[in-house]
Amino acid sequence: MRQLALDLSAHHYNIYIGEGLLDNRELLTGYCAGDNVLILTNETLAPLYLAQVKESLQQKNIYEFVIADGEQYKNLTSYSAILDFLIKKEFRRNDTLLALGGGVIGDLGGFVAASYQRGMGLIQLPTSLLAQVDSSVGGKTAVNHAQGKNLIGAFYQPKAVLIDTNTLSSLPQREYVSGFAEVAKYALLGSKSIEKLLRHELSAIQRRDSKTLSDIIFYSCEKKAQVVAADEKEQGERALLNLGHTFAHALEKLTHYKYFLHGEAVAIGMQMALNLSVDKGLIKPDSAELFSTMLADLKLPLVVDIALSASDILEAMKLDKKNLNQNYRLVLPAESGCVIVEESDRELLQQVIRKQLK
Ligand SMILES: NC(=O)c1ccc[n+]([C@@H]2O[C@H](COP(=O)([O-])OP(=O)(O)OC[C@H]3O[C@@H](n4cnc5c(N)ncnc54)[C@H](O)[C@@H]3O)[C@@H](O)[C@H]2O)c1
Repeated sequence: MRQLALDLSAHHYNIYIGEGLLDNRELLTGYCAGDNVLILTNETLAPLYLAQVKESLQQKNIYEFVIADGEQYKNLTSYSAILDFLIKKEFRRNDTLLALGGGVIGDLGGFVAASYQRGMGLIQLPTSLLAQVDSSVGGKTAVNHAQGKNLIGAFYQPKAVLIDTNTLSSLPQREYVSGFAEVAKYALLGSKSIEKLLRHELSAIQRRDSKTLSDIIFYSCEKKAQVVAADEKEQGERALLNLGHTFAHALEKLTHYKYFLHGEAVAIGMQMALNLSVDKGLIKPDSAELFSTMLADLKLPLVVDIALSASDILEAMKLDKKNLNQNYRLVLPAESGCVIVEESDRELLQQVIRKQLK
């Protein structure tokens, strides 16, 4: 088992990474304060991992709340139903919610924990690659609104994050590949350890080699923790984690969140960002090419293979909540790491988008 610390001004917590952590009684029980525990999960994960987690707990009352699987259930209806359950079972503030699942469960469970009695205990048990390298770390929690994704939420840090790498063995291949977009993002943000692993360990990645995945998750969490520790509430540097995301959110919104997985849209978005960086002279064409090859080798898509126009994509980008004013606020890869750029040239933006259209 490996361990990382996330040190924030008002919180300190550990991220544990290893095989079989869902069976680790000492760790799981140790972090669950109070008499009551609620395990929040979904219908796909419950038959796979719920019994195992229950077996590792020794609290007086162990409850489960299982929601249907899908992004569309990360909403106020699920949120409200979970709160009703906590109230009915007389949960108290020092009791614990375990979020067992991908980013949907983590975000929803996190927001419930943030708001129930102004904050109850939360432990993240991420099971998808995306959740293990990104969403479970850093304290962003949210539910979606009909008008947009993640519009209602809070910054709320867990007591601990327990990453059981064994859970990746059941992750569907498309979800697995998609999770690598966020991993590759850390390489573009300057993590040399990740860049090296992604360039040289492709066959180990393909066969889901446990040691390689543990390294990849460790360095990803390390990079994310470093950025979050410097800027917990996204006043500055944390915005760098949005590399590729302004383009990606537009692609996801225009296709009603049904066509691309999040990581797939992020990969295309990162390629668009690379195109713009080359045009603006922020990165040499050769360096950009190396990153494009890395994304392609991971089998991530780089091209929009559905009919969308550059002007529609640009229009949808305007609505991204990360755009603070009239300009497009974008994270762009540079020779070492990334920079934040305000871009107002619509024609240039359309050109770099068009390069990735079919
Ligand atoms: N809080 C943050 O900082 C942050 C960052 C990035 C993304 N997110 C959010 O995360 C969500 C996306 O997360 P996701 O990609 O994990 O989606 P997800 O939670 O929907 O999981 C993807 C699919 O994989 C299944 N799954 C997960 N783990 C599995 C396993 N071990 N075995 C078998 N199936 C498994 C799920 O049931 C689901 O069908 C979005 O809602 C996004 O907004 C949050």
